[in-house]
Amino acid sequence: GKLDSPNMKPENLAKGEGAVIKLDGHRKGAYRDDEGKLHIVDTTCTHIGCEVEWNNGDKTWDCPCHGSRFKYTGEVIEGPAEKPLQKYDYKMIDNLTSEDS
Ligand code: FES
Repeated sequence: GKLDSPNMKPENLAKGEGAVIKLDGHRKGAYRDDEGKLHIVDTTCTHIGCEVEWNNGDKTWDCPCHGSRFKYTGEVIEGPAEKPLQKYDYKMIDNLTSEDS
């Protein structure tokens, strides 16, 4: 898959803007909501691992392989994926922590 903005930092995203970026050396999906909050997800589809792409019209992460769609927060909108995208708590670039850990 392609990186939309390899050198983009999440804090540079405008409100309502999303992109696949490189964060701490890894591909991540980033979206800044209308209130300015950043939402960071893993771009690996939870179906069988294709790379999701940002859909700016619907503000969703869409998988090109079998059509799964996810909210910018990671929740499944449409299968076949059943599990949400892994979410991350964005504090600092080199201190990226999974919300589950
Ligand atoms: Fe994403 Fe199948 S890998 S829908």
